[in-house]
Amino acid sequence: MQPLLEIFRDFAKKEGIADKAFIVGGAVRDILLSKELKDIDIAIIGEALNIAERFAKEINGSFVLLDKEFGTARVVKNGEFLDISVMRGDSILSDLSERDITINAMAIPLTNFQPSAFSLQHLIDPYNGKNDLFNGIIKMVSEENLIKDPLRILRIYRFAATLNFSVEKETLNAAGRLSPLITAVAVERITEELRHIIRLDDSYKTIKNMKDAGILSFLFIELKECSLELYKTVEKILNNPSLYFLDYSAPIFKYFETDYRKICLKLSTLFPDSDTARQSAMRLRMSKKEVEFIHGMSSNRNRIADLYKKGTGSPDNTASISLLKEFKDHIYPLAILSIAKEPPITSFCHEIIIFYNEKFKTKMDILPIITGNDLIKEFNLKPSPLFKKILAAVEDLVLEGRVASKEEALKAVRGMLKTEM
Ligand code: CTP
Repeated sequence: MQPLLEIFRDFAKKEGIADKAFIVGGAVRDILLSKELKDIDIAIIGEALNIAERFAKEINGSFVLLDKEFGTARVVKNGEFLDISVMRGDSILSDLSERDITINAMAIPLTNFQPSAFSLQHLIDPYNGKNDLFNGIIKMVSEENLIKDPLRILRIYRFAATLNFSVEKETLNAAGRLSPLITAVAVERITEELRHIIRLDDSYKTIKNMKDAGILSFLFIELKECSLELYKTVEKILNNPSLYFLDYSAPIFKYFETDYRKICLKLSTLFPDSDTARQSAMRLRMSKKEVEFIHGMSSNRNRIADLYKKGTGSPDNTASISLLKEFKDHIYPLAILSIAKEPPITSFCHEIIIFYNEKFKTKMDILPIITGNDLIKEFNLKPSPLFKKILAAVEDLVLEGRVASKEEALKAVRGMLKTEM
């Protein structure tokens, strides 16, 4: 199947507008780096929305209006999409002069685009973005552009982190100097850039650089001061769980397959208490699930250590079982936090994870061992709050290993009813 970009190029040629259309933004970077194209932005002089609508109709795709004010629309076909925008200013050069960093301020005329034989001589590159791209340098187009959209300060760190580039000195100085302007940016945009950074395996060094440049305090305004020690260690453990959990690293990898958990666990380490954590996550307009995760991790980060201090040394006891019942798979991030905070309890955390996988989870698999229907059938009980109490007590007995079959469960209920719950 012909890629959507090529279909659009042929459409634009047919319509006689190909010389007014340019590939811009991240797609140009990806073409130069011979990477697979993901998000493709096209800038067009003139009626971009109208052209996008006609193109969508012609190919039987869908047209999604993204931003009426800025004249941006998306055309989607078979899971592929193109974002088509009105060019800023009256020429491609004035459009590129409005962009954030040199590696994002290049364009390729659509007429000249041949995926197999793209020639660099057609590249429009007024700020030497190609050299910066090949030399691994992030450089602003201009300080004025950072002032116009201060989110770009954060984008400088984001691109440096994701591409593993260094930031040119003047750009770094400007970013630090202008960082108070970040507070004027819509938080959703800030959070989006933060996610790009924090999800990386080696985000610590970027977060540390942002802290040293004084930027972090404008992102997390709730923090009076911010220690990154826990963040650093948690990230280290997340990158190599097998070092700490040996054979049980596989379920941990699986648990953290969902990006948001890694991001939220790392974020939770920044806050001194759970109220601040919740407040900050809510202000950053994170989802309800994320806010709860961050709050939960922040408020429970000492739970395993408390258990260890109180306990028998082995996790096979009622207190551990009730912790595992409360947290289930979330015991993994809790164990990581505990090890990061108190390395001496590493082997206790490892034992908890073994116990959870080998014993607790297998018992969970046989639940529910009896249901409300069994209580009605066997004991002639009528549905009442007592039901819930009995079923919860039976569940505890199963998880503690004291009940292993339906018969044993019913026998236990008989005992409970005799002693009147
Ligand atoms: N851009 C900008 N300032 C912003 C956001 C975007 O100048 N605050 C410009 C850049 O030229 C950027 C392009 O718009 O390359 C597209 O932005 P975006 O899709 O956010 O980033 P990409 O560069 O495409 O990178 P990625 O898709 O990897 O996020």
